[in-house]
Amino acid sequence: MKKTITLKSSKSKPLNGTVTVPSDKSISIRSLIISSTCLGNTKVFKLLESEDVMNTLKVLKNLKIKIIKKNDYYEIFGQGGVFSDPQKILHFGNSGTGVRLMAGLLSTSEINATLTGDKSLSSRPMKRIIDPLLEMNVSITHNNGLLPIKVFNHNNHYVPINHTLNVGSAQVKSCILLAALNTKGTTKIMEKIPSRDHTEIMLKFLGANLIKEKNVIKLTSPNFLKPRELKIPGDFSSAAFVIIAVLLSKKSKVKLKDVGLNYYRTGLLDVLKKMNANITVKNKRKFNGEIVGDIEVESSNLRATVVNQGIVPRLIDEYPILFVAASYASGVSEFYGLKELKVKESNRLTSMSNALSKNGVRLELGNDSIKIYGKKNQEGGNQVKTENDHRVAMSMLIFGFFSNKSIVIDEMEMIKTSFPSFKELFQNLGAKIEYFQKY
Ligand code: S3P
Repeated sequence: MKKTITLKSSKSKPLNGTVTVPSDKSISIRSLIISSTCLGNTKVFKLLESEDVMNTLKVLKNLKIKIIKKNDYYEIFGQGGVFSDPQKILHFGNSGTGVRLMAGLLSTSEINATLTGDKSLSSRPMKRIIDPLLEMNVSITHNNGLLPIKVFNHNNHYVPINHTLNVGSAQVKSCILLAALNTKGTTKIMEKIPSRDHTEIMLKFLGANLIKEKNVIKLTSPNFLKPRELKIPGDFSSAAFVIIAVLLSKKSKVKLKDVGLNYYRTGLLDVLKKMNANITVKNKRKFNGEIVGDIEVESSNLRATVVNQGIVPRLIDEYPILFVAASYASGVSEFYGLKELKVKESNRLTSMSNALSKNGVRLELGNDSIKIYGKKNQEGGNQVKTENDHRVAMSMLIFGFFSNKSIVIDEMEMIKTSFPSFKELFQNLGAKIEYFQKY
């Protein structure tokens, strides 16, 4: 029988200390892509060296962008938006952000390329980006709305669009903005449900002709982006695992330094405050237009909450770990409007509800909602099927710090896509997490 090394988490002692969480994945990927379109060299400090980011980096190298790693930064030799036809298929691994943003940029870059990804990414919807790109008159094909996507250099005359985004997706918005960089005229995007604005912030920081008025973003091209040093903040989505682990632990206090606090990423703080969480944000400042700060968290008696649809895009990646918080909070929590959760690295509504209910959590699953009956003591002990989803894996390992029996996950490799130091960071804080040999 095949041996697999995976991870096991068990009842833990108090968590204490100061940590720097891994750098932001969304901003790291954008920093590589956008600096490749600048004319000149950009230094990126604190780039996240996770698989998702490294896949985008390799793709850019395949498009003949020179990128070198120095001691504490990466240097990207931008060519003002000029790429060469790649010799290979462009492989984005697990990264929805990588493939959707690059599909936009490349579709108007006058090159021929094929973009693909791993099994999970190949089952995620791409029509949401194909439709607006076709409106811009690009030459692009897809596989029944899925990867692979092919872009062609047919010398098209690209046209700016007025597009209303019906889905609250930063990847779709960013895909259109990057395609619009090479599209003469003003592209307008109307966001019905605003989402993370890292692309807008970085484009503006590098000199793009971009304005935002209420829910309308206007980008006028051509643009000549100028290189400037970039420093990547800590990833709030990774910080979320630490924050909730500390809140649920007894006699614990942890400080998280330099965490990105973009408004559209930090809905979790609002929800946790309503749940009686003891969290303080200090030392707010900016890294290249992005707000960062230090977060201090202490043990808290969490109470159940109701989370409605309006906040979904500000909380989208934190639902798996928030479901864990709700499992140990007192009372019944309810979450609504979770349709988008079904098209992430896995269907997170079903993968999390299966994982939690098999480990003793009482819950009721609706079509796009979930009700979780929280209590102090949860059973645990049942191996978690992660469905190859990093956030399911990490959330359930945190669940195991508080359950009566340990939690073992079926696979651990995909944790590297966003949080390669997950085990070490939690061990250093005092949590019980170790390698486990599974047969
Ligand atoms: C991301 C946007 C979100 C998020 C993903 C990263 C980004 O996806 O879930 O992890 O970097 O723009 P959607 O745009 O599909 O909601």
